[in-house]
Amino acid sequence: MNFSRPTLASRAVPAPSFGQSAASAPHSDTVAFQHPQPAAENRLEVRLSDERINNRVRELAGEINRTFTDSDPLVVLGVMKGALVFTSDLIKQLNMPCQLELVTLSSYGNGDTSSGRVNGSLDHLPDLSGRDVLIVEDILDTGHTLTHLTGALKDRYPEMNQLKTAVLLDKPERRETPFEADFTGFTVANEFLVGRGLDYQGLYRNLPDVAVLKGTTH
Ligand code: IMP
Ligand code: MG
Repeated sequence: MNFSRPTLASRAVPAPSFGQSAASAPHSDTVAFQHPQPAAENRLEVRLSDERINNRVRELAGEINRTFTDSDPLVVLGVMKGALVFTSDLIKQLNMPCQLELVTLSSYGNGDTSSGRVNGSLDHLPDLSGRDVLIVEDILDTGHTLTHLTGALKDRYPEMNQLKTAVLLDKPERRETPFEADFTGFTVANEFLVGRGLDYQGLYRNLPDVAVLKGTTH
């Protein structure tokens, strides 16, 4: 299969480019990821390396394993799309039986400023009464998404057992509504971040590092 991308000339942001297509590369378990060539108005600066994130995810999983000692199973509720990568990294390190569930919520439009509104449905979820639930989110920013989600889950399932939240990143300076996660990977500065599931206009989620996208307004 030829892995080609549309030309970038007409796009506002550069797309990540791969050094070689998976099909044409010599056999290898990985495909090299090259950071996009910076356009004049958009530059990537790595803030958290892939290795640093992997180490921290392992530590967080240890804390979570020590917290949910008798959940059978633990419901891991990943918030899509941003937390897809973190959720998948995290569940591999959890040592109790896990039931993976996903919700698709967004408080961001297609840009990089928060709308303050949270969209999404919980109708497809199984009954969470009596269950231990861990919400997994990519980043805690204004706090609207997790305030809305935890409130909506408690309203729907007043008999839920433990409800806790794990976030890869926390940007406390941006908070508009008070919220603290139970498990936090990294506290970060007020910069617009991409990579490790975080996107800008749908791109950069596959970058293994967390990086700052310079040139966006936030
Ligand atoms: P909150 O509702 O403002 O806390 O926003 C949470 C959501 O906003 C996250 O799940 C992300 O999808 C998005 N978000 C917040 N900050 C960033 C960022 O720096 N880069 C990319 N997405 C972000
Ligand atoms: Mg998100």
